[in-house]
Amino acid sequence: MPEFAIVGAGTLGQAFAGSLAAAGNTVTVLATARTAEALRAAGRIRLRGAIELDQPIVEGDAKPGVVSLTTDPATLPPEAGVIFTPKGHALPTAIESVRAAWRPGEAAWVCGIQNGIVKDDLLAAAFGQERTVGAVTILGGGREADGRVVVTGRGATFLGEFSDVSSQRVEVAAAALKAAGIPTEAVTNIRTVLWSKMCNAVGLFAVTCLSRVSSSRLGHYPELVHAYCGLIRETAAIAAAQGIPMGDYPGFPIKSYLAMGDAGVAAYFAERAVPMRPTPGAPESRTSMHQDLIAGRPLEVEAIYGDVVARAERLGVPAPRITLARDLIRAIDPGR
Ligand SMILES: NC(=O)c1ccc[n+]([C@@H]2O[C@H](COP(=O)([O-])OP(=O)(O)OC[C@H]3O[C@@H](n4cnc5c(N)ncnc54)[C@H](OP(=O)(O)O)[C@@H]3O)[C@@H](O)[C@H]2O)c1
Repeated sequence: MPEFAIVGAGTLGQAFAGSLAAAGNTVTVLATARTAEALRAAGRIRLRGAIELDQPIVEGDAKPGVVSLTTDPATLPPEAGVIFTPKGHALPTAIESVRAAWRPGEAAWVCGIQNGIVKDDLLAAAFGQERTVGAVTILGGGREADGRVVVTGRGATFLGEFSDVSSQRVEVAAAALKAAGIPTEAVTNIRTVLWSKMCNAVGLFAVTCLSRVSSSRLGHYPELVHAYCGLIRETAAIAAAQGIPMGDYPGFPIKSYLAMGDAGVAAYFAERAVPMRPTPGAPESRTSMHQDLIAGRPLEVEAIYGDVVARAERLGVPAPRITLARDLIRAIDPGR
């Protein structure tokens, strides 16, 4: 069985670690001191919702079937596949702490599940392009005040080599995640998946944060869907300038959206919108950036908008809508 290390014990970190360990994998979690303390006090990872499990935590050497907790990157197993889960703004520091202390062996590889594209450049710069695997996930969830992680949907996860060839490490890791109940596909076009997800993130985060309309009600506002379409068109043009075509994936069928045109996408969203006056107490579906905005947490504005605008400028591709979205989101970012 492959060995995994998860950097960051937040929503996705705990969901991946708990699920992988419960399926018998060897998993080490590198947590911040404050979250390690909370996990030690609870004695276990608690996942609720779409994944229900209580996974015991131990300190010390990793063993199959339990989560080994550490706050010291030097103790990460040398042959692990390391999944980085800090938010975009915390990622450079997390990468640097691991790079400075970890001694990776020959089979070691790294990936990041953050929204955006820059994560892979940062990982490749620190650990080498050959160790860096592309990853995308739409597993969804959030952390409760008491430390439990509520998983709202298992979503879909994709792993792939940047060389666009299949590899044993990707196949083995994807199979382990799948067997652990996290639907995962090994792909040979990870850039297409990354940029298709990027289109969706650039479009949805801007329209939901700037309008404060939940993603489940977006379909009631054709003008917001038009704004979304404009943003995905610009992002897709930046990908196209790099020779990367768009694809259709669960939750972000970008190729189809581009073919449908704005009116078609507006009709598609309208059909799927929840009623304007929902049942009292029914949960709202909000994008992660919208949730961060409401909670007063820093937004991943630079890792997504700042980075994509810089790429557009380097490639000479016009991106006026994304640039405007970047500036407006920068201004309302609680972390500015
Ligand atoms: N949640 C979702 O539904 C979802 C879905 C798809 C993609 N994503 C993306 O996935 C990423 C993670 O999201 P999330 O919701 O899991 O965030 P999160 O709950 O805030 O988890 C991030 C974790 O990383 C930890 N961390 C930060 N710096 C660290 C360091 N230097 N060393 C070790 N751990 C460190 C944080 O520590 P503390 O515990 O001290 O805060 C936190 O536990 C984001 O980029 C997000 O956009 C999220």
